[in-house]
Amino acid sequence: MIKNIFLLIVAFSYCSNLSAQKFDDLAQTPPMGWNSWNKFGCDVSEKLIMEIADEMVSSGMKAAGYEYVVIDDCWQVGRDENGEIMVDEERFPNGMKYLADYIHSKGLKFGIYSCAGIYTCQGRPGGRGNEFQDARTYARWGVDYLKYDWCYATGKDIKTAGSSQEHAKSSYTTMRDAIYAAGRPIVFSICDWGFQQPWEWGKDVGHLWRTYWDIKDRWASLLIIFDKQKGLEKYAGPGHWNDPDMLEVGNGGMTNEEYKTHFSLWCMLAAPLITGNDIRTMSTETKEILTNKEIIALDQDTLGKQGFCYRDNGDYEIWIKELGNNERAVCLLNRSDEIKNVQVDFDVLLKVNSTYWKLKPYKLEDYKVRDLWEHKELNTEKSTQYIDITPHSVKVFRYIKK
Ligand code: GAL
Repeated sequence: MIKNIFLLIVAFSYCSNLSAQKFDDLAQTPPMGWNSWNKFGCDVSEKLIMEIADEMVSSGMKAAGYEYVVIDDCWQVGRDENGEIMVDEERFPNGMKYLADYIHSKGLKFGIYSCAGIYTCQGRPGGRGNEFQDARTYARWGVDYLKYDWCYATGKDIKTAGSSQEHAKSSYTTMRDAIYAAGRPIVFSICDWGFQQPWEWGKDVGHLWRTYWDIKDRWASLLIIFDKQKGLEKYAGPGHWNDPDMLEVGNGGMTNEEYKTHFSLWCMLAAPLITGNDIRTMSTETKEILTNKEIIALDQDTLGKQGFCYRDNGDYEIWIKELGNNERAVCLLNRSDEIKNVQVDFDVLLKVNSTYWKLKPYKLEDYKVRDLWEHKELNTEKSTQYIDITPHSVKVFRYIKK
């Protein structure tokens, strides 16, 4: 009898362990894709999403690595008598499975949005209490990516800022378990705006987590968010990324130079690259930024190290990102409104250490140094050089092993 009880306990804990995990081999590099929110808000439809999927392929975005097409808030209108989530039939006349199949037929992946609260941030039905049913529905539709928000997570309060870390962790863990139980590998994107320090608990729960409030299409917003990323580098790695929010590149509120900076900084941070512009009508400049393969390669480097701030001189910062093959990227950032002429010692930059991990000192003579926006190599016979950086701009270099 006692032996049987023991066996039952062992079997039970084995089974519960099986469901108590996330899908581990996803998002080994930061996810890349497109999301409807930044440009379209609630104005989402089947037509829009299909056109975006078409354009992802024809514009070269897919070839540059963008993969997920994600519908954000407002696709859902209610629950039926069985608790099944109901899709807005006017906007999505053929339902989500049809859309997922279409996206998959283009070699892309399909993402969707819901919320850990009773409502989404736009007041649509949220996932709380229906997690397992919703996860099964998403799996049936062919969802590959779920962004899970944090509004109304304590019931009444839209921005549930004051709720505890435990509450957030357990809410997101429930959805993680629901996804796992549904059996379809789905990238799980935690969106509690960094309020409950998800970097401290998110690694076992999701594949990425927002670190701060929503981005706005303005230079000032960019800097506020960017500053919040300092010190978070030790929490990121393959399968678990800090998410400073989606990209605003091409949405019109910043200059092309500022968008170049935005994109470069996100790549230095190993941030998820989820574009948020209308890629059907994007300008050549926007496309050139979003498809700069040399910059994207920093983000997608398989070592998976987030960059760190090596020097903070106020208006001028130096960021370093370790790459595979003992290579390294350096980003010089001019935050000011004036052009800066800075002295750079390329040998010294190859020998610096981060606060969190020990780096080997490398020799400059073993490397070529490449400017990733100019797409050309520097002459580094002299290791110390003076470099101009235009206002609100960056210089990004990669040390490439000879
Ligand atoms: C916010 C979220 C945004 C967007 C919006 C939709 O909470 O941070 O990225 O998803 O909700 O209502």
